[in-house]
Amino acid sequence: MSSITHAAGATRSDDTNRAEAGGRRILVWDIPTRLGHWLLAGSFALAWLTSESESLRNVHVASGYAFGTILAFRLLWGLIGSRHARFAAFVRAPYAALAYLKSLLAGKPQHFAGHNPAGAWAILALLVLGALSVASGWLTFNEIGGDMFEEVHEGATGAALAVVVLHLAGVAAGSIAHRENLVAAMFSGYKRGRPDEGIARRHVLAGLGLLVWVVAAVTFLMN
Ligand code: HEM
Ligand code: HEM
Repeated sequence: MSSITHAAGATRSDDTNRAEAGGRRILVWDIPTRLGHWLLAGSFALAWLTSESESLRNVHVASGYAFGTILAFRLLWGLIGSRHARFAAFVRAPYAALAYLKSLLAGKPQHFAGHNPAGAWAILALLVLGALSVASGWLTFNEIGGDMFEEVHEGATGAALAVVVLHLAGVAAGSIAHRENLVAAMFSGYKRGRPDEGIARRHVLAGLGLLVWVVAAVTFLMN
């Protein structure tokens, strides 16, 4: 028998195969979450690629600011966004992450319509380390605190990169275990699940708001 429990927006079934194979295509990720994710990933990559070059310092700083402004939006969206984007829906106690990893290793992965509890910890780490990277980068750039923040910047960005590698490994493992392409889902917004697990709206206006906010904030910060 499959056991299905509802907990603050996240739905879990212990019988993954049945839940997923029988699941319909449902909308899980709204547009601000998807757009924000790919802009976050792109700006992080650009900040890394330009980090060593003196002549590309402006590009580095602009992409770092873009990363920071998207991150600020994501924090707000985690409070007021749609069901699966909310922190309350996916932040779980560490034991829930361990239970999920155990179920993964046992070949019977628990199903979550939104983020799984282990992935959620990687996401939180990325948000915290990302904020630390931006803050320490800004302090270094403005020559505040001598060499101290330069070292913090190096440490935070290095740690963030290590978590990105874990994040990618987790996404690959989750995609294989659930036989569902999670990367494609981050583009389309759709995953398999029960109709009552889905969200009703894409939040197109909030997506536009995100774009306007990032362009306006980065332009302001670069001037
Ligand atoms: C090509 C590289 C990347 C791929 C393929 C990728 C893929 C994904 C996927 C599939 C998810 C959804 C996971 C799930 O279903 O639970 C996700 C979530 C997330 N990823 Fe990535 N990711 C990439 C790079 C990054 C980078 C560089 C960062 C940040 C530094 C990042 C931060 C996040 C965050 C914060 C979430 C949570 C999304 C949200 O709820 O807003 N990702 N990623
Ligand atoms: C997520 C965003 C960011 C990432 C991933 C990132 C990454 C890096 C990396 C890897 C380095 C080379 C560190 C070293 O080896 O010393 C670096 C250097 C630097 N970053 Fe960032 N950075 C980000 C955001 C920012 C921001 C927002 C600013 C400024 C407002 C900034 C300003 C600088 C400066 C001034 C340096 C040169 C430090 C030195 O003189 O060694 N960074 N960054």
